[in-house]
Amino acid sequence: MKLKQADLPQPAADASAASAALTRIIAAEIGYGGGWMSFARYMELALYAPGLGYYSGGSHKFGVAGDFLTAPELTPLYGQALARQVAQILAASSPLVIEAGAGSGRLAADLLPALEALGCAPERYRILELSGELRARQQATLHEHAPRLADRVDWLEELPERFSGCLLGNEVLDAMPTHALRWSDDDPGQSVMERGVGLSDERLVVAERPATGALLAAAEALEVAAPYRGEISLAVRAWVAELARRLERGAMLLVDYGLARHELYHPQRSGGTLRCHYRHRVHEDPFWFPGLSDITSHVDFTAVAEAGFDAGLDVLGYTTQANFLINCGIAELLQEHRDLGGAGQAAGDSVADLRARGAVNVLISPNEMGELFKVIALGRGISGPLLGFHRGDRVHAL
Ligand SMILES: C[S@@+](CC[C@H](N)C(=O)[O-])C[C@H]1O[C@@H](n2cnc3c(N)ncnc32)[C@H](O)[C@@H]1O
Repeated sequence: MKLKQADLPQPAADASAASAALTRIIAAEIGYGGGWMSFARYMELALYAPGLGYYSGGSHKFGVAGDFLTAPELTPLYGQALARQVAQILAASSPLVIEAGAGSGRLAADLLPALEALGCAPERYRILELSGELRARQQATLHEHAPRLADRVDWLEELPERFSGCLLGNEVLDAMPTHALRWSDDDPGQSVMERGVGLSDERLVVAERPATGALLAAAEALEVAAPYRGEISLAVRAWVAELARRLERGAMLLVDYGLARHELYHPQRSGGTLRCHYRHRVHEDPFWFPGLSDITSHVDFTAVAEAGFDAGLDVLGYTTQANFLINCGIAELLQEHRDLGGAGQAAGDSVADLRARGAVNVLISPNEMGELFKVIALGRGISGPLLGFHRGDRVHAL
């Protein structure tokens, strides 16, 4: 669904003022840069500029009161199912979990007790988080929902030098800065343009220049039928490559919305996958009140697999979220939840039961998160098939 600006709810005065302050910072940087900024840099500022970016500012972001719902916010059954896969990885490597981009802290608060119940609570649970505001929120969530295990959690200031264990990232890759491009079929000499940000009458506008360097090389390596507009995230590739290089033994488990390359850069998606989220509405104008909307693009899972593979990791599995969760036993967990009475409800509570079933349906339904969301596992020194991929593995499709 496309929404025009007029359809979006107007932000409150303090939020508009914060956005105006961020816009002034962005405009000044465009000025220093000779009138142009890459879209990736724009997205970095719009999401992570200290105190003003979407993730580093004060807006609610996750959950019903925020802008979008993520799987851990929907139901604790998601973390409980994931725990079964994490447990297998920890048993084969080391008792350490690193969670990148932990959002509200909900996944950590569900995973820790679930891992303890499986007899493999990690000795350390480390969180890598760019946003100071979210770090404080994660601390509060853990103290409220997993107080006994909260002292195992600490926050990393930078990527770990070397690590063994399980690195988790739920919807982190789609929130990393992406470059925007246009493949044109009218001028063969300049067929790939980088779509950046310029200023016109003090307003932020799209401004194009020929793509160069690593971005041009990445664009030329794709088989794209011009005319086409789309995104390439060099940041995702660099981040996965860097962590892969530092992984001694264990696996990285990354869950996100995205596709294999041949599906992502298919003529059907000739307008790209850049999307913005504001109060549960999806819109396509990344310049609408900078800092107030989330900005995302679909993940190229082939690029993720290549980045890990080039750093010496094995691609241990790639499948849809639905297959992964079913393989990890989410249906049995739902049944247990019903029998025991989940989330503080009495056994047989039909409202709690309906909610849990509705949430699991959203997680696995092909029309909701089940098909678009994928799970990839990249590992070193781990043998044997991983639980979450034993049926429906699609590594061959990458
Ligand atoms: C869409 S939110 C997902 C939050 C949470 N994992 C969830 O599923 O609810 C993206 C998260 O990734 C974080 N993030 C983005 N890039 C990051 C990076 N390079 N390192 C660590 N965290 C990052 C953001 O600050 C935010 O917490």
